[in-house]
Amino acid sequence: MIDRPKHDEHDEHDTRSVMQNLTSFTIVSGAIFAVYAIGMAIVPGAVLSRTPPTPGTVALSTQAQRGRNVYIGEGCAYCHTQQVRPLAQDRVWGRPSVPGDFAYATPELLGTERTGPDLTNVGARQADLWNEIHLYQPRSLISQSIMPSYKWLFVTKSRAERGDVSYRFRLRSLPPERS
Ligand code: HEC
Repeated sequence: MIDRPKHDEHDEHDTRSVMQNLTSFTIVSGAIFAVYAIGMAIVPGAVLSRTPPTPGTVALSTQAQRGRNVYIGEGCAYCHTQQVRPLAQDRVWGRPSVPGDFAYATPELLGTERTGPDLTNVGARQADLWNEIHLYQPRSLISQSIMPSYKWLFVTKSRAERGDVSYRFRLRSLPPERS
């Protein structure tokens, strides 16, 4: 005959030790996660948020903040970075970025993909008019460009009103529409 009560006791013991193992596994992995989260995210975040701005870095004007919101909304950061790495191939964009450069730009739009060039200080590199035309139709200036055209950011009027920013220019030959 099978000794049932004894067998059940054995099962119960097994279940209890599995539960104990699970509890200690959860506590240990939770503790490891907490240590990593504090050491790699919370402490560096707190230290960096106290980093003073690099000399010459100024708070964003309302207009610049609006531009930043457009940059986020249109997903420019999917194709562009705003971080100069301390590498030879990045020297073309100027000195390497330091944490203080981003004091007024939280969350930082560092980006990870460089489908297009890094845009750090692009305003100093390219004239306003160039940037406006390029944004309206990149292929009018760079014929092989794969950057989308952002025509919807512009209002086309036949007559400029007071306060409008307007440019009079004639685009030479535009390649076929590829916006
Ligand atoms: C699909 C990828 C893609 C997206 C999205 C994109 N770009 Fe570009 N961008 C490029 C490529 C590729 C170039 C290089 C060719 C050119 O100049 O058109 C470029 C070039 C530029 C340049 C000229 C940089 C220089 O050094 O001459 C500026 C400025 C720029 N992009 C701004 C923007 C802005 C602002 C947005 C969002 C509104 C944006 N881009 C979205 C791909 C992209």
